[in-house]
Amino acid sequence: MKKFILCAIAATCLLSCQCGQGKKEQSASQTVIENIKTRVSVRQFTDQKPSDEQIQTLLECAMAAPSAVNKQPWLFCVVDDAELLRQIGEQLPNTRVQNNAQVCFVMCGDLRKTLEGEGQEFWIHDVSAATENLLLAAHSMGLGAVWCAMQPSEERIGKLRNILSMPSYLVPLCVVPVGYPAEQPAVKDKWNTENIHYNAF
Ligand SMILES: Cc1cc2nc3c(=O)[nH]c(=O)nc-3n(C[C@H](O)[C@H](O)[C@H](O)COP(=O)(O)O)c2cc1C
Repeated sequence: MKKFILCAIAATCLLSCQCGQGKKEQSASQTVIENIKTRVSVRQFTDQKPSDEQIQTLLECAMAAPSAVNKQPWLFCVVDDAELLRQIGEQLPNTRVQNNAQVCFVMCGDLRKTLEGEGQEFWIHDVSAATENLLLAAHSMGLGAVWCAMQPSEERIGKLRNILSMPSYLVPLCVVPVGYPAEQPAVKDKWNTENIHYNAF
């Protein structure tokens, strides 16, 4: 009887261990999906600056994005200088940098690295993919961020070029302030079956 009980306990342990592994895999996938579905734009930040390690991870995630023909025609400028942040927030209020952002990322296309001809415009897709990666990574780390458009506004781009002394081969697609959230915006339910179509129109 004692032997039987011991065997039963061992079998239960083995089973729960295997099921646990299955659960672990499933929960990793669910975590990623949950992260995508719960991301929101955050526009108000606390005084706490993201760490250098967090900034490094965000850059790595941005650079992990797909790009047409793997050209990676991008450059990411990390701005954490207080005076530059002040000027960006003041002259470009749509960036929300004035709301206490301690760091922002300027997501640029590098026209020296784009495809030739018609494919040149793919840099916009490439930098957009990098931007979304950065937003999702920030959210997964408990940070808040928001995509703030520069391109195609010549006025906004001109102001940013002046503030950062940007060379003409760089085109800022957007500015992304990143920080610890000082607001908890509600997640928007965007599910809409009208936006889905199957097969031919
Ligand atoms: C191309 C693009 C441009 C945007 N520009 C701005 C902007 O200039 N300022 C801003 O506060 N939010 C900007 N946003 C953020 C949107 O307002 C936001 O994503 C949208 O309202 C949906 O909300 P959610 O991000 O919380 O889901 C932009 C988003 C995209 C994708």
